[in-house]
Amino acid sequence: MSDRHAVIWTRSADGPLKLGNLVVTQRESRFSYSDEALARDDVPGVSLLLPRSATPPVFQAKGGFFMYPRLMALIPPPGHNLQRQIVTRLLQAAPGGIPAGQDLEWALFLLAGRNGIGHLDVFPDDLAADRWYRQPAPAPNQAIGPRSRLWAQLRDGFVHDLAPLDARVVEHLIGPTPSAGGMTAKLLAAIPDAPRWDGRIAPPGTQRIGDTTFTDVVLKIEQPHYAGLAELEVLCLRVHRECGFDTPRFWRSSQAEMEFLAVERFDRCGGLPLPLESLYALLAMGRREFLSTADITLDELGQTIPKLAAVAALEVKSTQEAIFRRVVLALLTGNGDLHLENLSLLGGAREARLAPVYDPAPMRAWARHDLRFAIPIDFDNAHGGVAGNLIALAPAFGMKPAKAREIIAALLVQTRDYPERVMALDKVPLERRQRLVEVVTRERRGVAEELGG
Ligand SMILES: Nc1ncnc2c1ncn2[C@@H]1O[C@H](COP(=O)(O)OP(=O)(O)OP(=O)(O)O)[C@@H](O)[C@H]1O
Ligand SMILES: [Mg+2]
Repeated sequence: MSDRHAVIWTRSADGPLKLGNLVVTQRESRFSYSDEALARDDVPGVSLLLPRSATPPVFQAKGGFFMYPRLMALIPPPGHNLQRQIVTRLLQAAPGGIPAGQDLEWALFLLAGRNGIGHLDVFPDDLAADRWYRQPAPAPNQAIGPRSRLWAQLRDGFVHDLAPLDARVVEHLIGPTPSAGGMTAKLLAAIPDAPRWDGRIAPPGTQRIGDTTFTDVVLKIEQPHYAGLAELEVLCLRVHRECGFDTPRFWRSSQAEMEFLAVERFDRCGGLPLPLESLYALLAMGRREFLSTADITLDELGQTIPKLAAVAALEVKSTQEAIFRRVVLALLTGNGDLHLENLSLLGGAREARLAPVYDPAPMRAWARHDLRFAIPIDFDNAHGGVAGNLIALAPAFGMKPAKAREIIAALLVQTRDYPERVMALDKVPLERRQRLVEVVTRERRGVAEELGG
């Protein structure tokens, strides 16, 4: 394989800025900051673990990571990922066709790695960057409504798989759709900033059409084999908000025979991008032996936070406590999916903090996702049951055991009507509700008995 080259840019208040050059070889990836980026310490670097310096760390390829994990997060993942399908279809139409293996990943990176989640824009070279930033900003005079060809394409070509998705139609209507990770089909788009969502969207970054202001969202589209997921995720977003967690605004809607959940993006501020880096990418970058979420236990995760504070202005104690609270609430609500890509740091090294709650879906409603903890816990019967084992994590999360106990007890009380609220969601198939309620009732009873005793 010959060396691969790309350039990485970002958008700052003063306009686009080149962060630097990337070289990826069979064995390692190297990034070098541009002189402009080295001179601008107000602009975030590529990653918290790739600090702005004349000699940023080289990354040795390992397992599934053929380059810096932070950059691999810009490649739409394999599986039923909408962006991956669209970009692959666009590649199919190109002269070289669809490349194989790592060449495909690289081609997807160059095509889709911009204007996505976070602050990084990837291009094959500076000319391509220049051309892209010079394009007029999206200024549609009309938003795309639920009766448009776009919705029909998504419904028939992706959600129901009735006809092949015409990537060109999607591209024509909303532009090349920016990359978004995760399993659920989603679009990055802007929607009218109003209490109810009427099904209209505009390209991401649109701030206004006529008199209507727009806001950027992650628009999640429910898949038929996860019927009820949007309703369940909304309930969990509400529960997190009621329990005092930092939770974005969201809109739930049925449009064009599809079920949608729009969640306001927190990686945009005044039209400019903020860095968003998952703990997964950070750990894959920082720990040589880390290859997957299962390669770290919850206590090790807690102990990692002070280490991250060495590279970013991160408030250690409140971050540890917030993660601990999320783990507890995940257990109490049947979210078996709080993995390391569902926890991120938001902001650059000068102002990093734990990102607001996202993706709190109670996946234990589906047998294939029925995990107690997505990040393994080093369970020891000597600590008691699940509550005792959570309390035993306290020191790793910078807390006294009494504080951990207090958090668990408070969240248990605050969510006491959760099983009834799940059962009241009559749009969710009964089998899913019953399964989830059975799982959470068992967990909640176990925790209550342990705390009571
Ligand atoms: N409100 C938001 N603002 C900014 N970025 C977000 C927001 N919600 C999600 N993201 C980003 O988009 C990614 C995918 O979103 P999300 O986790 O909700 O989807 P998912 O497909 O359900 O994921 P999973 O595969 O974990 O089930 C997240 O990992 C995160 O990087
Ligand atoms: Mg997710």
